Amino acid sequence: MSAKREQWGSRWGFILATMGSAVGLGNIWRFSYAMGSNGGSAFLIIYLLSVILLGFPIMLIEFSIGKRGQDDAVQSFKKIAPKTSWYIAGGLGVLAAFLILSFYGIIGGWSLRYTYEYISGGIGGDSSAFFQNFIGQSVSPILWSFLFMAITVAIVLMGVKKGIESSSKWMMPILSLLVIGLAAYSLTLGGTAEAFAFMFQPEWSAFTDPEVYLAAMGQAFFTLSLGMGIMLTYGSYLKPDERLTSSAAVIILLDTSFALISGLMIFPALFAFGLDPTEGAGLVFIVLPGIFDALGGIGIFVGLLFFVLLTLAALSSSISLLEVSVSFLMDRVKMTRKGITLLLGSIIFLLGIPSSLSQGAMDITILGSSFLDFMDLFTANVLLPSSALISVLFVAWTWKKQDIYTHTDLKQGAVGTAFLMLARFFVPVAIALVLVFGIFNWLFA
Ligand code: PHE
Repeated sequence: MSAKREQWGSRWGFILATMGSAVGLGNIWRFSYAMGSNGGSAFLIIYLLSVILLGFPIMLIEFSIGKRGQDDAVQSFKKIAPKTSWYIAGGLGVLAAFLILSFYGIIGGWSLRYTYEYISGGIGGDSSAFFQNFIGQSVSPILWSFLFMAITVAIVLMGVKKGIESSSKWMMPILSLLVIGLAAYSLTLGGTAEAFAFMFQPEWSAFTDPEVYLAAMGQAFFTLSLGMGIMLTYGSYLKPDERLTSSAAVIILLDTSFALISGLMIFPALFAFGLDPTEGAGLVFIVLPGIFDALGGIGIFVGLLFFVLLTLAALSSSISLLEVSVSFLMDRVKMTRKGITLLLGSIIFLLGIPSSLSQGAMDITILGSSFLDFMDLFTANVLLPSSALISVLFVAWTWKKQDIYTHTDLKQGAVGTAFLMLARFFVPVAIALVLVFGIFNWLFA
């Protein structure tokens, strides 16, 4: 307990590590299939609004709880408001991070396997059959996920500055170059007009579907790593006088640009080959390999770059997911960072096994979705918004106005007032409405 809390080496180290958490499978794999299955442009507009009106205030609030509490996702609440139950928000967050990493590690394993496949010559022939056959096996996907989790554990073992911060410092620039290069190439393939229509031309009927709102809001939370104690934990490694608003703005801008550029990478190629954007979770694993194959010789190289991109993006996020629970336990049990990281990594790996098996090896479904899809939807659409909702209520309604301004690094004045209004009224009401309608629709429609 008395050990000195770790800290970031620099402000850019913090921004890059946070961006590493935000930019991940969510921006590429999840964004493309969620947008593809939820009406394209309508989803995009609601997602962008959610990012600005919900994402920004919530990110600031999570940072400020961590920075003020200078402790883990649960203890920070207890320190700021002793003898209250607000820490439940942190508890839900740690739980969400735990559950998300269990299936995130499975998709990370798929991505690693595909990288390997493109190193050794690519996936020729029927990419759908290849994918279904691979994920339907009982042992192989689990072994790949083991490898992915082992790399994650190895980085987190090294600690905040040496492991997380320094790995993000080289991963993020490489990722940005890769996604921009691939998008530029995709735009030359001939599907640009259709892709632009799909992404940017609003189809108004989709705005009346509550599920599109739930999906878009869930995506905003997922992609910004909100509602799971990550921003709170990362904020707690900041010095108390650190600037927050500009960091949050930079992170959100970069994460959103990354998703948009991923869209420009995926959809033009998709339409150029006359393929279907509503493929679902298999989109990047089935549709893209089909495209790489059709590109001929260069396709194997492009495919390799793409899956390296996907794997690195997944890794920089999975380390943040693991760090939340590691940080949580480190303050509570007498074990070294090493021991705790190994222990939690193993438990989360085991927890991922049913998700992997639910993809064909066994019939494990909940509420009509495979176990993996259920974990994804339940965490993103229910747990994350609930945890964020409680955090927002905690700060906006129980902190003194002056404390809010001090700890979020906002000034009194137009911006501060706008933030306060958003945080007190708009954000809680919007989350609550979407949660209630969305869940109702999900369960009963
Ligand atoms: N934000 C990451 C992504 O977009 C996923 C993630 C979710 C990371 C939750 C950490 C926590 O893929």
